[in-house]
Amino acid sequence: MKILSAVLGSPFQGSSSEKIVNIFIDRLPKERWDTALADLSKISPEALLLRSKDKALNDSIERVLNSDVVIAATPTYRATYTGLLKTFFDQFPENSLSGKLVLPIQTGGSAEHALSVEHGLTPMVRTLGAVVANKSIYSWGEHWNEDGNPGQNLKEMIDQSVNEIINTSG
Ligand SMILES: Cc1cc2nc3c(=O)[nH]c(=O)nc-3n(C[C@H](O)[C@H](O)[C@H](O)COP(=O)(O)O)c2cc1C
Repeated sequence: MKILSAVLGSPFQGSSSEKIVNIFIDRLPKERWDTALADLSKISPEALLLRSKDKALNDSIERVLNSDVVIAATPTYRATYTGLLKTFFDQFPENSLSGKLVLPIQTGGSAEHALSVEHGLTPMVRTLGAVVANKSIYSWGEHWNEDGNPGQNLKEMIDQSVNEIINTSG
């Protein structure tokens, strides 16, 4: 079994980055992938700010450290990933994502900050030694149909990312 952890960096449950993560995970073969979500909106902010200890936070960190693949999913806030996601990865020791494949999934209000995946999220996880997937996903409003389902372009982006992760990791 391959282990995948998806870290949800939106302060709000049901965010579009979370929806993309769920669609992505649904496309992985269940018999070969052990998947779990770390929803940071449910974790103690005091612990995330290094002011206290918290079992849920420690368990999520442990799970990520034991993963083959990590999804870092976040809305764009102020032209980059959220502060919530940053507080989570601030907990990790130097080089602790070494050898792991990280897939960035970022949503935004428009296409304007699409490149922030390349100059924000990507270098942040690389400081921990991660290998970053080529087919990252950046999505905004026009990628979604009115009924709340992903449009064709977004489905294709997700398919390409799923193929890359399966081909690279088994
Ligand atoms: C505090 C804040 C800052 C934001 N900054 C940006 C930004 O700089 N660029 C952008 O494209 N969208 C920005 N947005 C819009 C969010 O990225 C967008 O609403 C989100 O990706 C949609 O996902 P949701 O389903 O979680 O709302 C911002 C939203 C908030 C609340």
